[in-house]
Amino acid sequence: MFVSASGLAKSYDTGVVTPVLRGAALELDRSRIGVILGPSGSGKSTLMNIIGGVDRADEGVVEVDGERITDLDDDGLVEYRRESVGFVFQFYNLVPNLTAGENIEVVSNISKQPLAIDEVLAAVGLTEKKNRFPRELSGGEQQRVAIARAIVKNPKLLLCDEPTGALDIATSRDVLAQLQRVNTQFGTTILMITHNVAVAEMAHAVFRMRDGEVEHATQNAEPVPAERISW
Ligand SMILES: Nc1ncnc2c1ncn2[C@@H]1O[C@H](COP(=O)(O)OP(=O)(O)OP(=O)(O)O)[C@@H](O)[C@H]1O
Ligand SMILES: [Mg+2]
Repeated sequence: MFVSASGLAKSYDTGVVTPVLRGAALELDRSRIGVILGPSGSGKSTLMNIIGGVDRADEGVVEVDGERITDLDDDGLVEYRRESVGFVFQFYNLVPNLTAGENIEVVSNISKQPLAIDEVLAAVGLTEKKNRFPRELSGGEQQRVAIARAIVKNPKLLLCDEPTGALDIATSRDVLAQLQRVNTQFGTTILMITHNVAVAEMAHAVFRMRDGEVEHATQNAEPVPAERISW
């Protein structure tokens, strides 16, 4: 398995100890799209953050492409995040006084084997907007820049936490189509959190979380092109 998480447990102590993950597990093959669904507070972001090396589990094991992430020390995690993981969030977090191209270049400059900036801009359909500042772009376009910025380092794993959470339906569909294109064109393995059950149709694998566990994992033999999803 390209991504393998098992037995993940995590609690927060805020006066009372609250378990947030209770033995969560998932497996995702290389170059697949996996979608995580589940109610608010079920532990989706916590699980994704542990897989992405931005948070640590109390117990359990995460392996990505044969590397045991849960054994890494802090320096190892920094290196893993920088080299292997791309992140896309609900809010795009672009640097406002840099153009689209420059926002991507910042990440490209610190990557070992970056893709070409023009190639990733073309992949998300933004070649014409390279010299625009974020305020001169629509929300969907800003999210596409954020996707380009996340993939320019050619990450092993692209983690997306509610990437369409701030977008309307038509724009969401467009952003999801760009993610599907990235998956096909670069073979990037993608794990995406969404509240939207319909989005599961575009995934190869669907993980349903409840109360800190992955309750159901299903495979999708025929993922639907994002353009054809309706909700
Ligand atoms: N730093 C923290 N300290 C205490 N509790 C936390 C912390 N981070 C998360 N939690 C709690 O852990 C639980 C799971 O949070 P998480 O963010 O993983 O949920 P989620 O499934 O992503 O929810 P949402 O759909 O609302 O984003 C929540 O009940 C949350 O309040
Ligand atoms: Mg969340």
